[in-house]
Amino acid sequence: MAQVLGIESSCDETAVALVDSERRIVAQRIASQDAEHAPYGGVVPEIAARAHAERLAPMIEGVLEDAGIALADCDAIAATAGPGLIGGVMVGLVSAKALAMASDTPLIAINHLEGHALSPRLADATIGFPYALLLVSGGHCQILKVDGVGEYRRLATTIDDALGEAFDKTAKILGLGFPGGPAVERAALEGDADAVPLPRPMVGSGEPHFSFAGLKSAVLRADECGQYAVADIAASFQQAAVDCVTDRLRIAIEGMDDVDTLVVAGGVAANATVRRALERLAADHDMRFAAPPPKLCTDNAAMIAWAGIERLGQDDPLDISARPRWPLDPEAEPVRGAGVKA
Ligand code: KG4
Ligand code: ZN
Repeated sequence: MAQVLGIESSCDETAVALVDSERRIVAQRIASQDAEHAPYGGVVPEIAARAHAERLAPMIEGVLEDAGIALADCDAIAATAGPGLIGGVMVGLVSAKALAMASDTPLIAINHLEGHALSPRLADATIGFPYALLLVSGGHCQILKVDGVGEYRRLATTIDDALGEAFDKTAKILGLGFPGGPAVERAALEGDADAVPLPRPMVGSGEPHFSFAGLKSAVLRADECGQYAVADIAASFQQAAVDCVTDRLRIAIEGMDDVDTLVVAGGVAANATVRRALERLAADHDMRFAAPPPKLCTDNAAMIAWAGIERLGQDDPLDISARPRWPLDPEAEPVRGAGVKA
């Protein structure tokens, strides 16, 4: 049985976990920085990097203590090496390098998106390759075919905002606070999803890409007109977003051969309305549906440790660089009309 220590620091969660090859999360700690960033309504990179630097070392010590093992007993140290806010990524990666050097343990540099992409396999041993993956987080919104560890084909991406970003911006417009996704979901529980007519950008387009900028502008107009209750706008936004996702995913799935499993991962996968809609979509296509438990959907270190387990045997050099951008499918063509997002 192998054990890997995972470190995650690419955005605003500082997280450390010890995971074994039997899929046990032996110990984990996670510190959210919501309180630090809330006054600014979004993540401030400099504040994030500083908070990671202050918290990480004692958290690593705590996890090893909880697990009752020494660093040298770990089979590898896996750390997020990108993509993400570069200051935070460097804090985690440099810490992992120092620990790897001091304990003579292999270092495995993990792509944060791969951590999300493989997280369903940590939650469920029966999920094998290939699978169709909807990866929806604060910075990314993609549909991928996952053929194996390190084998990703991107079928769709967003031409403007990511889905989590659309939730966060909607929360900001509606004054629901930070972090936005869970706040919109809570507000929507009290609202009528049919109350506010909102657009479904890209729905009906033959290619499965996403766009959410127009939906966000429509939310802003609905809020400014003063005609609608906040809960109704939240519920209508959430429904419009879900309709976009299921329509785009349907196009992508119908173009994929020999894939019988649909998987969702990333922070927005914690949303119950999104999960229910995807479950129905999978059933309509005779596919199996899998979603990790919500705590494994939002950023965490167990998924990074697990990606390390999947990559055991890899021994990255200690001069490996942190990467602010690191696409899962480097061969993917840029999308016409798209901004700079991978
Ligand atoms: O994967 P994640 O924790 O961090 C990134 O890698 O970006 O995803 C964070 C994103 C945020 O945009 C957050 O608002 C969204 O996931 N999110 C949600 C929910 N929980 C988190 N969006 C909708 N509903 C939720 N329950
Ligand atoms: Zn993430």
